[in-house]
Amino acid sequence: MKQVVTAPDRSASGAKRARSRTTAQNPGHAVDYSDPAFSEAVIRWQKQHGRHALPWQNTHDAYRIWLSEIMLQQTQVAAVIPYYRRFLERFPNVQALAEAPSEDVMAHWSGLGYYTRARNLHRCAQRVVADHGGVFPSDPGLLAELPGIGRSTAAAITAFAYGTRAAILDGNVKRVFCRVFGIDGFPGAKPVEDQLWLRAVALLPEQDIGAYTQGLMDLGATLCTRGKPACERCPLAGQCVARATGRTHLLPTRKPKKAVPEKSITMLVIADRTHVLLERRPDSGIWGGLLSLPETDVLNPDDVGATEREERLAPAAAHYGSPRSFDRLQPFTHVFTHYKLHVWPYHVRLDSRREFAGEDSRVWYPVDRLADAALPAPVKKLLLAIFGEPDLLS
Ligand code: ADE
Repeated sequence: MKQVVTAPDRSASGAKRARSRTTAQNPGHAVDYSDPAFSEAVIRWQKQHGRHALPWQNTHDAYRIWLSEIMLQQTQVAAVIPYYRRFLERFPNVQALAEAPSEDVMAHWSGLGYYTRARNLHRCAQRVVADHGGVFPSDPGLLAELPGIGRSTAAAITAFAYGTRAAILDGNVKRVFCRVFGIDGFPGAKPVEDQLWLRAVALLPEQDIGAYTQGLMDLGATLCTRGKPACERCPLAGQCVARATGRTHLLPTRKPKKAVPEKSITMLVIADRTHVLLERRPDSGIWGGLLSLPETDVLNPDDVGATEREERLAPAAAHYGSPRSFDRLQPFTHVFTHYKLHVWPYHVRLDSRREFAGEDSRVWYPVDRLADAALPAPVKKLLLAIFGEPDLLS
C-alpha cells in the first residue's frame, strides 16, 4: 500500500489532541485522521447557529446549487445574491441556460468578474444537456470532469443536491483545518494540500453530509475568519491547536513571497592618481543615463586568486594605460525593487592613463569632482571611499 507521509501535529498540552494515529490494521503506514467528534460538533453547531436562509439553500435542485457554487467560487455571498436571483429568472433551468446565446449569459454575469466562470458555466450547461440528459451527475468524480467544476465544487454540489458523501476543501475550509489541527505550511503547496484532502475525507460524517458541508463553510465564513476569529463562539475551540498555542494569527501559513532574483556583476575602478574611468549607461535599464563604472565578465573574488585576477583584468586595463596593481575591493549588494545586485569591484591602479578617442560613452573623470558626478548612489559611495582616502592612491 502507498505510504502516506504527513507532518506531525503540534498539539499544545492544553489542547485535546486531534486524533491522528497509525491504524491498527496498517501499522507504520497511512495515518488515520478520522474523528467523529469533529463532524458531530460541526453539524450540531450548523443546525443551531449556521446559515439556513440563503437563496440556494432549502432546495435539492442541482442546477440551482451548481449555479450558486460557481458564483460563490470567487465572490462573497452578499455580492452574489442579486446576480443569482436575476440569473435564475432569465435562465430557470439547465436547458434554458444551455440554449441561450452566450452574449445573453455574459450580460447576466456582467459585474460579477472572473468571466471565465461564465463561459465555463455556459459550456457546462450544454455538456449536462448533451451528455447527461439534462441531469447533473451525483458522482463527484463525473461532475468534476465538466467545465469549471473542481474537486471541491463537485463535492459541494453533490453533497447538497444528492447527499453524496464527498469532501469539500475551499479556502475557508483549509483555514479551519490548518488552525484546528495546527498544520504548518502554505495550504496551496502540494504536500500540505494533499494532507488537507486526506483529513477532509477522513473527517466526513456518515450522516448529515449537507449540514456538515454547510457547517464547514459557515464556520470558515463567519467565525474562523482570517482577521479576528471569534474563537469564543467556535464549537471546535476546545480541540483547536492554533487557539491553544496562540497561533491563530499565524495559521494558515501565508503564501511564501517569490524569491527575489539575484544578479552578480564585476565593476572596474580603473584610475590613476587624478582620474577614474567612467562610462555613461544606456538610457534604458537600471541607472539609465547615469555615469557608472565599466563592467566586465563576472569575476567572483571567492573563486579567483591574484594571478588569475591579473590575467583576466590586464588586457582590458592595458587599453587605458599602464597598470600597476589589481586589487579586490569590498563586494557590496544593492537591492532594487525587483532584484538584488551583487557587485564585485576591482581596483586597477595605473601608473599613467592613456587618452583615447572614439569612445563617446567613456570618460576620464577627475576624482576631485566625484562628489558632484551623476553616479548611482552605491557607486558614488564606493568611489568616495577610495578617492576620499589619499593613502589608497599612492
Ligand atoms: N461559499 C461556497 N458555497 C457556499 C454556500 N453553499 N453557502 C455559503 N457560502 C458558500
